[in-house]
Amino acid sequence: MRLDRAACIDDLRSMARRRIPRFAFDLVDGGAESERNMRRNMEAFEEIELTPRYLVDVGDIDTHAELFGKVYDVPFGMAPIGMLNAFWPGADVALARLCARMNMPYVASSAASTPLERLAEAAGGNGWFQLYVSSDETVTEGLISRAETAEYKVMIVTADVPAAGKRDRDIRNQLAVPFKITPEVVAGLIANPRWSLETLRHGKPNIANYAELLRGATSYADVQKTLITPRFTWEDLKRLRDRWKGPLLVKGILHPADAAECAGLGCDGIVVSNHGGRQVAFGPPSIQALPQIAGAVGGRMKILLDSGIRRGADILRAKALGADFALCGRALAYGVGAGGAQGAQRAFDILHLELIRAQGQLGVADFDAVGASALTLAR
Ligand SMILES: Cc1cc2nc3c(=O)[nH]c(=O)nc-3n(C[C@H](O)[C@H](O)[C@H](O)COP(=O)(O)O)c2cc1C
Repeated sequence: MRLDRAACIDDLRSMARRRIPRFAFDLVDGGAESERNMRRNMEAFEEIELTPRYLVDVGDIDTHAELFGKVYDVPFGMAPIGMLNAFWPGADVALARLCARMNMPYVASSAASTPLERLAEAAGGNGWFQLYVSSDETVTEGLISRAETAEYKVMIVTADVPAAGKRDRDIRNQLAVPFKITPEVVAGLIANPRWSLETLRHGKPNIANYAELLRGATSYADVQKTLITPRFTWEDLKRLRDRWKGPLLVKGILHPADAAECAGLGCDGIVVSNHGGRQVAFGPPSIQALPQIAGAVGGRMKILLDSGIRRGADILRAKALGADFALCGRALAYGVGAGGAQGAQRAFDILHLELIRAQGQLGVADFDAVGASALTLAR
């Protein structure tokens, strides 16, 4: 299938699935345990209805949105994704460049497969940095000062990984970190020659920002200890707030009381997120958690939302329920998987054109004006 025949994000997902070895596809496509939460993310969006208003001039649709003093062309950005070059070689840079071209934020994951300095350059001033707090303070500090030197202005601290998510697909696929050549891997390489050749060309993907630190790592436990800590608390967040001079957001918030705590500590925003259903299977979809959170902190800080966005109209749904801005994870990643840099562009175009069309149909020319009045309440 050619990229221009992909009508929607799900078509790009199907295309990606056909060219990527299963263990690598599942690494991105999978969720925690039964994957109930991941499925619910998408179902919950479908359940939200917006009622169009007609006889409104929608001749000039405006999708601009302002965040932290900067105007972006679209009200969505690329969510942080770790190890994405394992999904498609060169994915990180392709997406960072897309964000530079389309004037939207690119959130570089601290677990990215490309060094944060290179991603800052590729994102051309639109890069934000996402931090995982390590069990070793010097590792955390090292990342923050590198992010400062690379001139990232916005930092997102991820809160929802006190323990690594249990992803049953990765266990079944015998996916090992650090990466090991298993019979499943060899079979996948033979069946997907394009992916294999590109991977050879780009080199084995690794967790680039920690490459030196992880050189001696022999088990997943070693990797986990370097990347995350179960002991990250509000006290630490307070220190991070004092340490980082620019806008600071906390990602992975689902409870209104946690959102209020973030506001109280002087954070500039939160990302209402369940990590795309990759952390817990039992939690609520983030779009379902949003209204109460917006009720608690709306107007006091910026509210971003991710998890389950697959259509332009999902971004309108999030806005109507109280979000200022959205992040897309897999939706844009599937594009790269389907067709490298061109596929990333195709995924962006699909979402953007769906958003423009949906705004026109809803009767709201200006994205900023989308609000609760569009919601259909009778359900
Ligand atoms: C493969 C993969 C890796 C991810 N890595 C990170 C990460 O390193 N840091 C982080 O804060 N979130 C990470 N996330 C979560 C995303 O930032 C985002 O919350 C999620 O993808 C949103 O859901 P969606 O994919 O349905 O849009 C990852 C998600 C995926 C799919």
